[in-house]
Amino acid sequence: MTTKKIRIGLVGSGYMGKAHAIAYHNAMVAFAIPKGVLVCEMLADASPELAAEKAKELGFSRSTGDWKTLVNDPDIEVVDICAPNFLHKEIALAAIAAGKHVYSEKPLALNADDAKDMTQAAELAGVKTLVGFNYIKNPTVQFAKQLIERGDIGEVVHFRGVFNEDYLADENVPFSWRLQKQFAGTGALNDLASHIVQLAIHLVSPITSLCADLKIVHEQRPLSQGSSASKGGFGQVENDDQAHMMVRFENGAQGTIEASRIAWGKKNGLSFEVTGTKGSLTFDQETLSELSLYIAEGNPQTQGFKRILVGPEHPDYSAFCVSAGHGLGYNDMKAVEVRDLYKSIVNDTPLWPDFRAATQVNIILDKVIESYENRAWVEVEQYDGEQK
Ligand SMILES: NC(=O)c1ccc[n+]([C@@H]2O[C@H](COP(=O)([O-])OP(=O)(O)OC[C@H]3O[C@@H](n4cnc5c(N)ncnc54)[C@H](O)[C@@H]3O)[C@@H](O)[C@H]2O)c1
Repeated sequence: MTTKKIRIGLVGSGYMGKAHAIAYHNAMVAFAIPKGVLVCEMLADASPELAAEKAKELGFSRSTGDWKTLVNDPDIEVVDICAPNFLHKEIALAAIAAGKHVYSEKPLALNADDAKDMTQAAELAGVKTLVGFNYIKNPTVQFAKQLIERGDIGEVVHFRGVFNEDYLADENVPFSWRLQKQFAGTGALNDLASHIVQLAIHLVSPITSLCADLKIVHEQRPLSQGSSASKGGFGQVENDDQAHMMVRFENGAQGTIEASRIAWGKKNGLSFEVTGTKGSLTFDQETLSELSLYIAEGNPQTQGFKRILVGPEHPDYSAFCVSAGHGLGYNDMKAVEVRDLYKSIVNDTPLWPDFRAATQVNIILDKVIESYENRAWVEVEQYDGEQK
């Protein structure tokens, strides 16, 4: 195994920046990556003071208030983008031009055209790319994928996916970048539904058409100090609180996908049900180490959903714990993601989901807007890598 150091430059040290920083440390321990190979080298944030404070807190050696300094630093091999959505494209293109691998948070871009530009640049440059659709890295979800692929529930005929949270359910939660189109793009759609769309494609097959609806429920929110948008002390919310869609898959299955950022009581409410011709399975991220499986066989009197607690027999679980049913957490999925990044760089193998896969998600999110605006079903093209 290599002991060559891979120096990481992290841009953005908020919620996700911290999760990534933890993942670099945890992945080395969980997956026996030689000590010190993943180096938390430099952290960039919006000001030098904030960057210096966060670098100290999260274990990065150097810091800068200008992400361009980080991107162009010759020691940095991976640029890890945990900044708000609108910065992903500019930072990624600069990193790719400097020959760096790019690990970006989702959604990859504000729209499909930008995502295509990013994918094309990365593929031309031959750098590795990874997008933080972490929920597919959960051992339980990896196991669900195995069950579907080997036909345990038969042919998939229906997918129901939900991602509900309540982080904006209180209408007095202050205005932020997440509520403005120029910084976040869409709302619950980009932030939450993007995960479920990517999961649906991963578990079922490509989405080929859809019919969608969007709604802003809380139209204004109080401005916090220093906020720019203003309307008498309130900011005008510009993007959806709730997003719904009906979808059709390439394999003929039907599906529904919904997301809300104002669903009281839901904290990490990502769940899905996959129905097949011989059985079904259900998953809820709030109990992320459990899978419910129903197989239509045997005595009808004793048929029912079986509750499976994941353990060392399931993919990647044993890296964290030798005992079944002890449960993993959100940060463990991020450690699996970092393990994938490490292996891909060291072995020069493909990464998943890369910019190309994330571009297909952006194409679908754009189609949701088109469908909503035209109040109609729309066809979804499959990204073939051609110029936009
Ligand atoms: N994969 C997931 O489960 C998940 C969860 C939450 C957020 N995200 C994604 O992560 C990204 C960041 O979201 P977050 O919740 O961490 O946001 P956040 O607001 O908590 O953090 C954003 C960070 O970026 C910094 N920043 C802002 N402008 C900057 C600039 N010009 N240069 C450098 N840094 C700058 C901020 O100061 C802050 O540290 C978003 O794209 C979001 O969609 C992913």
